[in-house]
Amino acid sequence: MTRQTPQVLSIVLETLNQEPLPTLRPGDHIDLHLRAGLTRSYSLVGHAGSHLRYEIAVALDLHSRGGSRYVHQQLRVGDEIEISGPRNLFELHPEAPHSVLIAGGIGITPVWSMAQELERLGRPWTLHFAARSRAHAAYLEDIEKLARGSVCGRLFTHFDDEAGGVPLDIAAALASAPKDSQLYCCGPAAMLNAYEEATAKLPKDQVHLERFGSVQAAPSVATSHEFEVVLARSGKKLSVPADKSILDVLLDNGVNAQFGCMQGVCGMCEVALLDGVPDHRDQILNKETQQANTRLIVCCSRSLSPSLTLDL
Ligand code: FES
Repeated sequence: MTRQTPQVLSIVLETLNQEPLPTLRPGDHIDLHLRAGLTRSYSLVGHAGSHLRYEIAVALDLHSRGGSRYVHQQLRVGDEIEISGPRNLFELHPEAPHSVLIAGGIGITPVWSMAQELERLGRPWTLHFAARSRAHAAYLEDIEKLARGSVCGRLFTHFDDEAGGVPLDIAAALASAPKDSQLYCCGPAAMLNAYEEATAKLPKDQVHLERFGSVQAAPSVATSHEFEVVLARSGKKLSVPADKSILDVLLDNGVNAQFGCMQGVCGMCEVALLDGVPDHRDQILNKETQQANTRLIVCCSRSLSPSLTLDL
């Protein structure tokens, strides 16, 4: 474990059986099963010099619901934990004539992997890296070193404290990007909102974002009401009260449902929806998938109809 910044620890995970780990793709993440009932997803930073190791970085989140607090306060060098294989919801398209990478805070982790891969392939890239201050920017020295020696990449840094508290101007950063660039952004919610606004009129296949590493509020059930879920395979009908999620109810009733973040950002709890009109509250399904009403993120979404039928 290495302290990257006052809030960020980088952690090298090494296999116990000396079997090589799957080759990572930039943007990959893995799930860490920290202890019973506590699974969290983190982007892979790299292979940490060997195919027997992965590296992740975890920011201590003051609003932590257990994951980052556990990593910072309880996880120790030598501990054995189970991890999932890598999954990718933030795919790099290295063949693009240009790639613009935007990262805020701990959002640098997948983006740093992307910059290294583009550099390795000799593909043009521009990285805008924003953080509260230089001291809060994880991997900054390594990134600056890569950019200094790069023939195809450029780095722009933005530190809020040096800019009088003004955040990075995402629209301005994108305005200077070549028209056919592939665009990537990972960072806190305010940054992602500005990015979505600035890219709203661009073709969907040009715009990519990742919400991992963002400080997410727990989904609100304040405006929720009770409804029913029907499990199609068993015919079971379960009532979802206003103060519980569908996932809670499934787990309470012994359904072996998968889950991770419990915040609608990792996608692990996604199920097929067979009937009913959901109230999508996740941040993982794209707009088209949400409108199709055939998939549901059960840790946070609710129902607009009296009943939802799930393929479970
Ligand atoms: S558990 Fe992560 S999206 Fe539901």
